[in-house]
Amino acid sequence: MRSIQSFDSKYDVGRVSAPNDNAAFANFSVLENQGKNLFLGAPQFNASGERTGGGAGCQGCHRAPEFDIDPNSRNNGVVGIVGSTTVDLTNTRSPSLRDLLNANGTLNSQAMHDGSLATLEAVINHYNAIPSTPGNTNLDPKLRPQGQFQKLLLAQNEKDALVAFLKTLTGTNIYTDEKWSDPFTP
Ligand code: HEC
Repeated sequence: MRSIQSFDSKYDVGRVSAPNDNAAFANFSVLENQGKNLFLGAPQFNASGERTGGGAGCQGCHRAPEFDIDPNSRNNGVVGIVGSTTVDLTNTRSPSLRDLLNANGTLNSQAMHDGSLATLEAVINHYNAIPSTPGNTNLDPKLRPQGQFQKLLLAQNEKDALVAFLKTLTGTNIYTDEKWSDPFTP
């Protein structure tokens, strides 16, 4: 199942014709290229954990071109348990960020292990201000710059750009080619 992911996304088309991930992709809009730069770039922080420059740091854990998860990642501050008020600190893995949306542009599911984030905007807002959940001893240090809970201070335009970039990771073929259909349906 993990081998079934998009390979004909707008990102893939752009990547083939660019010298590297950091170069502007000719098939991307200005907003999508801005989002790509924010996704790939490491942020700089001040002593209060507030971003003063650089990107949003997503690449530090969700690595291009597969957008799979860094095997050493700890949790990302989403520590809820469905139907419970206690916390679960052990969710340190993420599926690939490819195909968050289907070919029609609708989210395939709510995000995170507990489905607690219903939109991509909610995901960006989560990373924009990592919640200071008491007792979260397994929060990844990358989200705790200078020992503070990360504040990216993203402008609305930067949030829009990150969402626009995530949408370029959805392909078409896996939703339309019969060879990817349910093998158990006679
Ligand atoms: C410190 C590592 C780390 C960083 C940095 C990080 N993430 Fe994540 N991300 C995770 C982990 C771990 C999960 C899985 C959490 C869960 O399931 O509760 C996740 C889950 C997600 C998901 C949900 C995937 C799904 O299918 O449910 C999205 C979307 C996402 N991250 C986007 C981003 C974006 C955009 C950024 C940059 C602003 C980012 N992440 C930065 C570690 C990170």
